[in-house]
Amino acid sequence: MRVVIVKPAKRIRGSLRMPGDKSISHRAAMIAALAQGRSRITNYSNSEDCKATISCLEQLGVEIHCPLPEIVVNGVGLHGLTASRDFLDCRNSGTTMRLLAGILAGQSFTSRLTGDESLLRRPMQRIIEPLQMMGAEISSTNDGYAPLTIEGADSLRPIEYELLVASAQVKSAILFAGLKVKGRTRVIEAEPTRDHTERMLRAFGASLETGVDAAGENTRFAEIEGHPKLRAQNISMPGDISSAAYFIAAACLLPDSLLEIADVGLNPTRIEFLKQFQAAGFDVQMTVESEEHNEPRGMVRVSATRPGERESSEFHLRIDGLKIPKLIDELPLIAIAGSQIQGGIEIRNAAELRVKESDRIATTAGNLRAMGAHVDEFDDGLHVYGPVRLQGAPVDPAGDHRIAMSFAIAGLLADTETEITNSECVAVSFPEFFELLDSVVER
Ligand code: S3P
Repeated sequence: MRVVIVKPAKRIRGSLRMPGDKSISHRAAMIAALAQGRSRITNYSNSEDCKATISCLEQLGVEIHCPLPEIVVNGVGLHGLTASRDFLDCRNSGTTMRLLAGILAGQSFTSRLTGDESLLRRPMQRIIEPLQMMGAEISSTNDGYAPLTIEGADSLRPIEYELLVASAQVKSAILFAGLKVKGRTRVIEAEPTRDHTERMLRAFGASLETGVDAAGENTRFAEIEGHPKLRAQNISMPGDISSAAYFIAAACLLPDSLLEIADVGLNPTRIEFLKQFQAAGFDVQMTVESEEHNEPRGMVRVSATRPGERESSEFHLRIDGLKIPKLIDELPLIAIAGSQIQGGIEIRNAAELRVKESDRIATTAGNLRAMGAHVDEFDDGLHVYGPVRLQGAPVDPAGDHRIAMSFAIAGLLADTETEITNSECVAVSFPEFFELLDSVVER
């Protein structure tokens, strides 16, 4: 158990680059595995989650050469995966389990998927239902939890499926299964989620249509044509904007800070938290500089906002509805920001937070209260009142990387030292988080 003591900070100063985006890296490795030929992926995420994806693919007969942050994947083609005798261990990674399940649904062999204690508590019925409709047989534990046994079918049925929960992982599982369908598979989402799978599949040559669904203005669809020719690519991952979020929040909330983050992913389905910081009056600018393999990337700059410069009247931010899927991973951090903002922040329609790596509504509310904030907790969100001076406290992240990193930022804002227990869990997404934080914090 590694305890990290976070001391109060004066400001953030510096220029940083982030390790490769975790969401995009999972997809790049999986699609490269199904392509014909050798793909080189640079700035591949060094997260434990993306390492789990590499080892599962290796168990399925795909040759992958490291060392990170560059990997070379010898694609086996759509029909080239081979059965693994052992369980595929997805460790802490929901993305690995749910996306791989989509790929394995269309294989003519049986696979077994498992994970760590946290992953075994996360709902899988959301992927089991559509994949069974497509013709895979999936058995689960206690009605809908991993370990999963997937008896794939080489040829799956086309479906049109409207997501019951706003989840990019579920959408992606269905689209991946759609690769083995004769015909077209359509996923409809009333609350649009991140679209990395759609962009990456296209970059590798799949034929995929996306747009506004007839059901309504905010409803999107993605439709994939089965049996595409996926061709190997040399591709570089943009920096992870969700990892950058911690530094950006710290630079916003500590007066007199200056921060630049170069070459970071700026996909419109991931930058809603930046817009919320802008809406709260912070000086955050983003500039798209290029678009490689369909993913926009560029610079984020945070300039000093001096105390009193921001809106000082009662100002209450409510984050809900269609915004939620676009900042789902940043919500614990945004809740902490709420404790520093006049009027605070209310987050609603975010019940999904309860089934992440931890129950993030409970872990965020509990740790914020321990630091002296006033928090109302709801089934689907929380209201954090502000502004308040946070006090240092022992923080238990409950094994959840995003809670550990969010509360490290809270610790910078506090009056006294904050002690984060089991801090090694940050490696799930961002192994060098504490070192990078130290490199830009001034005390
Ligand atoms: C992810 C999607 C989100 C997000 C997770 C990564 C992805 O989960 O919370 O960290 O890479 O598709 P859901 O799709 O379940 O909301």
